Amino acid sequence: MALIQVEHLSKTYKKGDNKIYALRNINFDIQEGEYVSIVGKSGSGKSTLLNLLGGMDTSAEGGVYYNGKNLLTMSEKELSYHRKFTVGMIFQSFNLIPSRTAIDNVKLPLIFSNYPIMLRETRACELLYNMGLYNRALHYPSELSGGEAQRVAIARALANKPKVILADEPTGNLDTATSAEIIGLLKMFNEKHKITIIMVTHDKETAHKVSHKTILLSDGEIIKITSNRNQ
Ligand SMILES: Nc1ncnc2c1ncn2[C@@H]1O[C@H](COP(=O)(O)OP(=O)(O)O)[C@@H](O)[C@H]1O
Ligand SMILES: [Mg+2]
Repeated sequence: MALIQVEHLSKTYKKGDNKIYALRNINFDIQEGEYVSIVGKSGSGKSTLLNLLGGMDTSAEGGVYYNGKNLLTMSEKELSYHRKFTVGMIFQSFNLIPSRTAIDNVKLPLIFSNYPIMLRETRACELLYNMGLYNRALHYPSELSGGEAQRVAIARALANKPKVILADEPTGNLDTATSAEIIGLLKMFNEKHKITIIMVTHDKETAHKVSHKTILLSDGEIIKITSNRNQ
């Protein structure tokens, strides 16, 4: 069975008396260990879809199934488990907490998940070390470069060992060289640790290069799903 099955997923926003479809009858499967890119113009529904996959938003029609369980009908307790342990999220603007150091940002999800208190420091150090950021542990987000900030965010997303990383335009604020570095890191986690990656991007060329499957969205609908067999 596929790890994720999206079935007849639709989401509307109200605008006055009108319904606006942010997503319309979306259907696709994702296998465990796949690297999937979602591409499409601004406003095509990419972030809406990613938030539904992350269980951040559940007000939609249809189904978002993980191992056969629909996120849209889960209890708050199950959803909270999903957000803590099944998925990790990274964003274009990094979303680090400015008043906390890099290591304290990485520790946050460990606090939320009740990770043993005495092991949090070690776990957070290990995660930063793996990102090549050991010497940035005590820096505040404003003292980090864009690439460093995104690597802290990746460390934070991986803290509770999620099965899936959801990345919303993770390289949108980065220069070409740094973007390649971040994509390379995601690809490494996908290949070495079999973490499923679902990445939103504007960059079709990179999407085809790194991912197993590319989903093209336009006006809330899937226009095309491409398998990249060379991956
Ligand atoms: N909170 C909201 N209220 C009303 N419309 C929204 C809201 N969020 C997104 N939309 C609309 O839904 C559509 C998809 O948005 P979004 O998923 O953010 O697109 P993308 O990430 O591809 O740029 C857009 O038309 C956007 O204007
Ligand atoms: Mg978006």
